[in-house]
Amino acid sequence: MLRPDWAPEDVDMDTPSPARVYDALLGGSHNFKVDRAAAAHGTSIMPDLPIGAAANRRFLRRAVTFLTEIGVTQFVDIGAGIPTVGNTHEVAQHRNPDARVVYVDIDAVAVAHATAILADNEKAAAVRGDLRTPGVLLDDISRTGLIDSSQPVGLLMVAVLHLLPDTYAPETAVATLRDAVAPGSHVVISHLTSESRAEQTAMLSSAVARRDRVSLVFRSRPQIATFFGDFQLVPPGLVEVSGWRPDAAEREIQVAGSSLYLVGVGHKH
Ligand SMILES: C[S@@+](CC[C@H](N)C(=O)[O-])C[C@H]1O[C@@H](n2cnc3c(N)ncnc32)[C@H](O)[C@@H]1O
Repeated sequence: MLRPDWAPEDVDMDTPSPARVYDALLGGSHNFKVDRAAAAHGTSIMPDLPIGAAANRRFLRRAVTFLTEIGVTQFVDIGAGIPTVGNTHEVAQHRNPDARVVYVDIDAVAVAHATAILADNEKAAAVRGDLRTPGVLLDDISRTGLIDSSQPVGLLMVAVLHLLPDTYAPETAVATLRDAVAPGSHVVISHLTSESRAEQTAMLSSAVARRDRVSLVFRSRPQIATFFGDFQLVPPGLVEVSGWRPDAAEREIQVAGSSLYLVGVGHKH
């Protein structure tokens, strides 16, 4: 298969990557055959995966809108994914042209594509980084010069923590980031949950691990709540994705896949 011009030289086109599989689930165009096959396989086990992913994206947009409206002017979006429609910088800068955004992802395609679309945007940048090494990540974010660490930030970890198995101690990594941000900051988290469909989620997890060598960890509500630490959940709390401050359009959609994700926004006092 020929390497498309948007794919960096070192990308392995024969192994699915979570970023590209998610892009395929959203109907995006930055994925390979192997990613589309993985997305189709996952969807054969859990048919509402694509509508769950779309609902998760809409949550991200509502959360960024909410934070921008209450005065948050800088955002760090970790596990940002391959840019699609309504990315964090577009939503934030639409309401506040001065809003600054740093995207972080471990995936080369995600970072290359984000860097390309941000070429003319002085207030946003993309860096390659790994949530499993939060100290290094904080240095990388600081080097962009876009984030003032003495001021509140909107820290997004949307649909990324379930890619980190417990062996990587994601709760410790998230705690390091929570400690690093200034009082007044918010953390935005969405996470795949085993809460309502234990059997089906266990089946999907083991199929994806076996077939695609990807860890997909569906966590329980108490486990997901732990990621917020002592941050105070803003109303309505930790809820199914479509139930987080739904706008009229969200209420209209009534997403069937909503129970796949639990989401919330926590506030550091
Ligand atoms: C399912 S996508 C979510 C994208 C976006 N946040 C959203 O919700 O629409 C998860 C992203 O997390 C990235 N990711 C996975 N492990 C990571 C890690 N250890 N550090 C940083 N990013 C990671 C993947 O490359 C992928 O782009």
